Amino acid sequence: MSSLLPVFGGKQGRGAGRELEARAASGAPQTPVWFDLDAPPPLADVQGRRYEYLRLSVTDRCDLACRYCMPPGGEGDHALRPELMSFEENARLVAIFARLGVRRVRFTGGEPLIRKHFTSLVQAIHDASEATELVLTSNATRLAPVARELRAAGLSGVNVSLDSLDPQRFREITRGGDLGAVLAGIEASLDAGLEVKINTVAMGGINDDEFGAIVDWAWARGITPRFIELMPLGEGAKMTEAFMGVPDIVHRLGERVADDAMGPVVTGRGPARYFASAADSSRRVGVIAAVSANFCDTCNRVRVTGRGDLRVCLASQRAISVRDAFRAGASDRDVAWATCWALGGKAQGHQFATDGGAHEGVGMSLVGG
Ligand code: 5AD
Ligand code: SF4
Repeated sequence: MSSLLPVFGGKQGRGAGRELEARAASGAPQTPVWFDLDAPPPLADVQGRRYEYLRLSVTDRCDLACRYCMPPGGEGDHALRPELMSFEENARLVAIFARLGVRRVRFTGGEPLIRKHFTSLVQAIHDASEATELVLTSNATRLAPVARELRAAGLSGVNVSLDSLDPQRFREITRGGDLGAVLAGIEASLDAGLEVKINTVAMGGINDDEFGAIVDWAWARGITPRFIELMPLGEGAKMTEAFMGVPDIVHRLGERVADDAMGPVVTGRGPARYFASAADSSRRVGVIAAVSANFCDTCNRVRVTGRGDLRVCLASQRAISVRDAFRAGASDRDVAWATCWALGGKAQGHQFATDGGAHEGVGMSLVGG
């Protein structure tokens, strides 16, 4: 039996039921068994939150170094190739999670498209767990040539980070990024039939004069734009003067959104709130109050880093290593129960305001957003 598992008493695994029946028949006292150990329950925690969404980071490297995310030369301690979860390990992990109720997997990074043969990973996961929706978060610099093959491999959507439509400003924010390549990636994704969203980190004094133009540009292409409050994680912790809260962001959108815009019209499956266009109710703009609203109550996601650390909260360094469990010979059931156990210890919410800065050491590209 793996040492990863909490011990619930009695024999574990196949045969536990038969042993209990034999004990009952002999009149021996029964060990209380809480769960069928061969069938762990759907992922949930003590607050009653259910987990149906996995954010799977496939690399901690990126070809850009956005000012709020990466230090100028990139993060210092990149994983070496053997430290990363292999494609087989990732596909196995998703198959286990799918049995625990996970229905959607988002590939994150770093930049997922940096990982060689990324399309094969999408295909392997699609083959291993077909019922799971597969989506990608990407900076889109390398998306144009592969959008079609990703769609064919089973990917259904992509969220592209786009903080400016001005090539020079885009280059400054991303420390060298080529806006043209990103826009080509977006167009290619639309052509390939992928659902596209764009994510813009709202930064006062840096890109807030462009919010309206970004919304217009996105709506003209049938894309839903979303604005994210700048989180004080990693490099973002050094930019607090640029922080903009949701009311300021919505205010910047002016007449594009309906008058009663402060009441969101739709809530999605995640922490984004969507507001309707004043002119066309089928168009929406999303705002993610990553900092000011505590959406922890409805948290529905678990994260696995490129190195295979399962993190139950973005703002916490608590983790268990799925990779080490796999490589030590753990069974699927061991990993399933270890995951349930990790979620059992999950705190109620993030403590950005009160944890004394502990979250600042958790750079986004290392955790996977
Ligand atoms: N605050 C808000 N969003 C961030 N991202 C990265 N770092 C931060 C931060 N500090 C976003 C990127 C991208 C996604 C991967 O995470 O803009 O949309
Ligand atoms: Fe790369 Fe995304 Fe971080 Fe920008 S935000 S440096 S594109 S991982």
